[in-house]
Amino acid sequence: MKPQVIEFKVGSPLQRPPSPAPTPSIVTDPAQLNDAIMARFHSRIYTRGEVVLPAVPSLVDYYVQGLSEIFVAIGKPFTEEELENLKNILLPQLEDGFRASPHSNVIFRYDPSETGGITYNVSHVIASMTDQYKTWVETREPPLFGSHPDTKLLEVAKSLHHLPQINILDIGAGTGRNTLPLARMGYSVDALEVTPVFAEQIEAAATAEELPIRVYNADILGPLVRMAPAYYSLAVAAEVVSHFRDADQLRLLLAKMCDGLHSGGLFLFNTFMAIDGYEPDQLTREMSEINWSTIFTREDIAYAMNDLPLELIEEMPVYEYEKMNLPAEAWPPTGWFDNWANGRDLFWLPEQKTPMELRWLLCRRL
Ligand SMILES: C[S@@+](CC[C@H](N)C(=O)[O-])C[C@H]1O[C@@H](n2cnc3c(N)ncnc32)[C@H](O)[C@@H]1O
Repeated sequence: MKPQVIEFKVGSPLQRPPSPAPTPSIVTDPAQLNDAIMARFHSRIYTRGEVVLPAVPSLVDYYVQGLSEIFVAIGKPFTEEELENLKNILLPQLEDGFRASPHSNVIFRYDPSETGGITYNVSHVIASMTDQYKTWVETREPPLFGSHPDTKLLEVAKSLHHLPQINILDIGAGTGRNTLPLARMGYSVDALEVTPVFAEQIEAAATAEELPIRVYNADILGPLVRMAPAYYSLAVAAEVVSHFRDADQLRLLLAKMCDGLHSGGLFLFNTFMAIDGYEPDQLTREMSEINWSTIFTREDIAYAMNDLPLELIEEMPVYEYEKMNLPAEAWPPTGWFDNWANGRDLFWLPEQKTPMELRWLLCRRL
């Protein structure tokens, strides 16, 4: 009898007789079945969302940290590399939005992806100051900026009584809180206002009362806005410089005032100033802009005035001065004035003083 030879081929498994397949047992335990249902069902639950971030470039790391916590909470944590990538996408959007307007927002939208992670999209939406003020008109009760004119302004205007003709320019006149009373006192007033709906309101009030007011719907910083040379005895910008972006814009305003004021003419404006010895950092400066409270240091003001034919002749805190001189029923001018004028729209320090102050600055054209 020939011996039985079993041949092996490289790579071919040893042939064994198939073992019988295990018979699956049937699960009927309700708890186990519930777990099994949820294990299958869980993939059908997902989170999608939108996060709105004010366009503040200095906050990029803070925002990335906040978003990473959302990813962890929804069970899709990002790796360090993915977070770095997110930062690289977010930062230019914050910068572009902020450059366009301090009222811009960056929108971060995320969705589940098919591979189990998340996909996201980052964009920015620009909103202008005039858009914001239009909303004020639609949603707030007038008077938006108070019912009485600034007492410091009236005092300065009255000090000009010796002049034969007094032309006044009210820059950023708003709804005419200062323009209308000055015109009622007999002064000839030009109101320059960039927000169309406010310019219309002043125009309507001036027409109704036949007041000596000319209204210009324009941006004082616009390249086409030129001053009639040496025409005004007094110009005022009340609560306007707090909207400016930087000291270059303030310098441009002051230079235009030098054109428009006659020699000896006065320019009264108010601005937030950092208290002496406090130097706001980049984050604080950006945040001051988005909170309608642009902060300037004494060096910024000196830069803005440098070599212009203008001298600073008087300076004082707005809050204390107006509180002392306005009639009791006119105080506070608005519901927001107290916090805003004391720098608390930027620094929420309700019990303490903030390192900034809204100040009246009175300048004379040389
Ligand atoms: C807080 S309100 C003050 C209004 C008014 N001066 C008052 O004290 O009642 C600021 C006003 O300045 C205007 N404004 C801001 N920047 C301006 C600019 N560059 N040119 C003209 N108006 C401006 C705004 O539209 C707004 O009406």
